[in-house]
Amino acid sequence: MNLIDLHPAAADMHQLVREGMARQPRQLPAWFLYDAEGSRLFDQICEQPEYTLTRTEIALLNASAAEIATRLGSGVIVEFGAGSARKVGPLLAALQPAAYVALDISASHLRDALAALQPAHPRVPMLGICCDHSQLDALPPHPLLEGQRRLGFFPGSSLGNFNRQEAVQLLQRFRHLLAGGPLLLGLDHPKPAQRLEAAYDDAAGISAAFARNLLQRLNQDLQADFNPERFRYRARWQADHSRVEMALISCCDQQVSIDGQRWDFAAGEPLVTEYSVKYSPAMAAALAQEAGWRCAARWHDAADSLSLHLLEAAD
Ligand code: AVJ
Repeated sequence: MNLIDLHPAAADMHQLVREGMARQPRQLPAWFLYDAEGSRLFDQICEQPEYTLTRTEIALLNASAAEIATRLGSGVIVEFGAGSARKVGPLLAALQPAAYVALDISASHLRDALAALQPAHPRVPMLGICCDHSQLDALPPHPLLEGQRRLGFFPGSSLGNFNRQEAVQLLQRFRHLLAGGPLLLGLDHPKPAQRLEAAYDDAAGISAAFARNLLQRLNQDLQADFNPERFRYRARWQADHSRVEMALISCCDQQVSIDGQRWDFAAGEPLVTEYSVKYSPAMAAALAQEAGWRCAARWHDAADSLSLHLLEAAD
């Protein structure tokens, strides 16, 4: 298995925890959610009846793959945050790329994903890169990437985890990493509050377990002593920011220690686990423009609930 491991070191994660705990409200990078267990829970979220994003986007990709492949042209597909890599199949089949390069923060999940995908696409060479793509300055040199056009793929509305400034920076970074190649960007649209809050707080409790797993992860990997039962999960639509805020709310006044450093939580104080910003096509076009891209095409489902935008470098 072809895998390059550039996962941030524990020391860097400690530094990010200190920065995140000093924020108001407290918030850690969303990729902290995706250890092996978090990645497994996220796959389960995607199967909940209330969370329609994944199913809708896969159906759209299946229906539009031939047209998208024509517009993308030839090259190497580079997927940012591939997770279980369950979306790229139709593109691999329609486009027959020179290679498939999958980036993800969980090395074990990435290894399993590529092993599962490879047999269905025996002629597409595959490479995994475990990394935090929001901090990646260059794709590591590799024969599969050499001299090839790069076709970016960033589905699932993962850009929604980032605030405005971070999102612009990330899209600029991708423009640099893709070296002139296009980016296929999947973004979920704003919807009624009730639907979104149900999607992010499903009846089976998987979304809550996914958020709470962050605390287990901090306990395991970063010597913290969170008691997950002393936090309750909350997901709410914040219309003025066009985003769902997901947070763990401290149930009482309590002290938590992380790697020997103590932090006070007041009763009712949130730890934001992630945001999920929802972009209308107009919002997406403005964002893309700010980051040096232009929207060259858009595909959407029948209900127009989400979009796949084809971005091309503006200059
Ligand atoms: C992976 C960021 C796209 O925002 O819909 C889903 C994450 N968290 N349910 C999303 C998520 C809880 C998801 N993204």
